[in-house]
Amino acid sequence: MAGVVRVRAFAKINLSLKVRGRDRSGYHELQTVFQTVGLSDTLTFRIERGPFRLACSRDDVPVDERNLVWRAAAALWATAGRAGSPAGVSVAIRKRIPPQSGLGGGSANAAAALLALPKLWRISVPARTIEEIGAALGADVPFFLCGGTALGLGRGDQIHPLADIPRSAVVIVCPPFGVSTAEAFGWFDAEREAQPAGSRADERPGPAPIIWRYDASHLVNDLEPCVVKRYPVIGELKRQLLAEGASAAAMSGSGSAVFGVFSGSSRAGRAAALLAREGWDALATRTLTRREYAARSRPTEVAGRRRALRRRAG
Ligand code: C5P
Repeated sequence: MAGVVRVRAFAKINLSLKVRGRDRSGYHELQTVFQTVGLSDTLTFRIERGPFRLACSRDDVPVDERNLVWRAAAALWATAGRAGSPAGVSVAIRKRIPPQSGLGGGSANAAAALLALPKLWRISVPARTIEEIGAALGADVPFFLCGGTALGLGRGDQIHPLADIPRSAVVIVCPPFGVSTAEAFGWFDAEREAQPAGSRADERPGPAPIIWRYDASHLVNDLEPCVVKRYPVIGELKRQLLAEGASAAAMSGSGSAVFGVFSGSSRAGRAAALLAREGWDALATRTLTRREYAARSRPTEVAGRRRALRRRAG
């Protein structure tokens, strides 16, 4: 393995997010459909002497043990039976996925580290162990070890791959603020408790249906109403995406990002350009199938490629 390895960490949107109750630890039982999209961060791993180091292009992202990449490194190091703190590699994150946007950036970065670091450290970690470490890091991490369209049950960490939805153009708008996932679930609980018993969606008799059929005109997110109540602009952006021709629009995860699904890339491009002219952080992208995700997020050896180019030039 070369001394420099680059990995693209793609974002996700939630095509559907239903809250079905809480488990004993207070975590919420979810039925969610994840979908990978073309927006990505880039992580560059370098073999270097000294302690593990992390850098990020955004200064509002912690670069210590609070960062999931750091925690992924520490967990892999311990799994490999190595003593002390992780060492011998530095990681630079070029961030394009805003933090606290509901697009899974931190989790995607952690999954990228779980796949790249064993190669750089020349340790062999079984896929099952990688999945377990991922689930312990955060509920969204296991999805990023799979990609494409997938159903997330339990905390959202029990991943069942689904048939990829047809390739769709997507516009993502990120408001200039983030939403804390823990807070969004807290607002959801407070509103649920205020509803009369018996009328709550997760209390209806019988097992909750988990059959999911992609309907390009209908997206559900149970967290959206309580987040929109605190941040009405999220609802306004959703309406604007629909007015610009989206076949459906919704908040992603616990917010703050909003996305719209469009029938074609030119229409999506026009909508994103219009929103960008109004000052919004808006971008047109598209869904990635599981196969595309696997191919495009594979660690690539940067130094090796440079050497090959030099050889060809000489
Ligand atoms: O798993 P993750 O660290 O991303 O979750 C952040 C917070 O969101 C948790 O501490 C918890 O409060 C809340 N959460 C939840 N139910 C889930 C996922 C997250 O209550 N299924």
